[in-house]
Amino acid sequence: MSLSILVLGSGGREHALVWTLSRSPGVSRLSCAPGNPGIGRLARCLPVPVSERLTLVELAEKEHIDLTVVGPEVPLAEGIVDLFQERGLAIFGPTKGAAELEWSKAFAKGFMVRHGVPTAGFAAFDAPRRKEAEKYIEDCPLPVVLKADGLAAGKGVVICREREEAARTLAEMFGGSAFGDAGTSVVIEEFLTGEEASVFAVTDGTRFATLASAQDHKRALDGDLGKNTGGMGAYAPTPFVPDDLLWRVEQEIIAPVIRGMAAEGRPYRGCLYAGLMITEAGPKVIEFNCRFGDPETQVVLPLFPGDLAQLLCESAAGSLSDKTLASARTKVKGTAACIVLASAGYPDSYPTGIPIHGLESLEGRHGVVAFHAGTALRGEQLVTAGGRVLGVTAVTGGDLAETLREAYGAVERIAFDGMQYRRDIGQKALRVS
Ligand code: AMP
Ligand code: GLY
Repeated sequence: MSLSILVLGSGGREHALVWTLSRSPGVSRLSCAPGNPGIGRLARCLPVPVSERLTLVELAEKEHIDLTVVGPEVPLAEGIVDLFQERGLAIFGPTKGAAELEWSKAFAKGFMVRHGVPTAGFAAFDAPRRKEAEKYIEDCPLPVVLKADGLAAGKGVVICREREEAARTLAEMFGGSAFGDAGTSVVIEEFLTGEEASVFAVTDGTRFATLASAQDHKRALDGDLGKNTGGMGAYAPTPFVPDDLLWRVEQEIIAPVIRGMAAEGRPYRGCLYAGLMITEAGPKVIEFNCRFGDPETQVVLPLFPGDLAQLLCESAAGSLSDKTLASARTKVKGTAACIVLASAGYPDSYPTGIPIHGLESLEGRHGVVAFHAGTALRGEQLVTAGGRVLGVTAVTGGDLAETLREAYGAVERIAFDGMQYRRDIGQKALRVS
């Protein structure tokens, strides 16, 4: 086999995808559009943004790409998979119709009710029913969670502890301005308590394999304080999803979703990401994403025991084989941890173009890789180019405590002005294990 694979995207997730694919024996050529300087060391970077679907499909044809792998959600929600499939090109990810599980929270909630998938209790209101929504929050239990429908880049969820805040947030969401297009419909949801975990399932529309469970750290500051971010670090596997619980997640959540999507005429192929709350009553879905999560991918893929290229190709073709499923389901050995190094000010506005020092000292350091999330080259100098700059990942055959020591040891060698990171990644897991 000699596969030519194109990855779409430019962040830490895409670097981890490229890094893991580069270890698949069947891959002879890796390209990435648009990629980043870290990816550029493993793949040919092509300067086409993910929004240029027509250019990308032509590129894939011209370059004889065997498989295109989509990183981020926006091109999926815009139908890039449908476009590639119309041209007869293999692409990993769900169609626009299947990706609605992520791009419409109202659709996802209704779907979960139709198929008996455990999730927080809720009510959904579109703009004409705004008055009913206002009435609803006058006497619902607090805290209450308000979610603007649509993709809002992680900003569409507000947990309201007071009624006045709930009323104000509802008005803002219906007003639309603060939440963009995302505000035409609002989901009002029961507040769940427990530990959060992420489970990825790769599916061909019928069969699936779940990968190592992971835990993200969404808040900016230690102790889960500060603002919501894209994710400040992750580790895998998580002790909050032991084997028997993962089995429940597969039976109660992943399998019914895949069956339900097929039954509703929108078969789901690609990575189904279940964002879970592990409650006292069992696992419940907080959200679905239609792609690999970031930064979780940076810890899940380095632990992946099988051949990733083979898995993604078979998923795209709609025919996962017994052999591929068996190797993907092999029990993970060891642990992985990723510490995100972010720019000063993130998740609000932040400067860019700041020189990054010390990365070369990690070269050759066994079991450590710095995935690039927001970097650029200015001449020879690597500089910051985003809010999340690097995901410093360690993988060891040992336990999480050892892996975290490795990861933080590597972080200490890297510096840029204003660099911020959480010092408590994985601490909750250490307390229970
Ligand atoms: P989302 O954008 O859907 O991932 O939500 C962002 C964060 O809000 C989640 O990671 C949770 O921490 C929190 N969250 C969302 N929905 C709920 C809920 N029903 N109960 C408690 N926390 C929630
Ligand atoms: N880790 C959160 C996300 O990818 O949406």
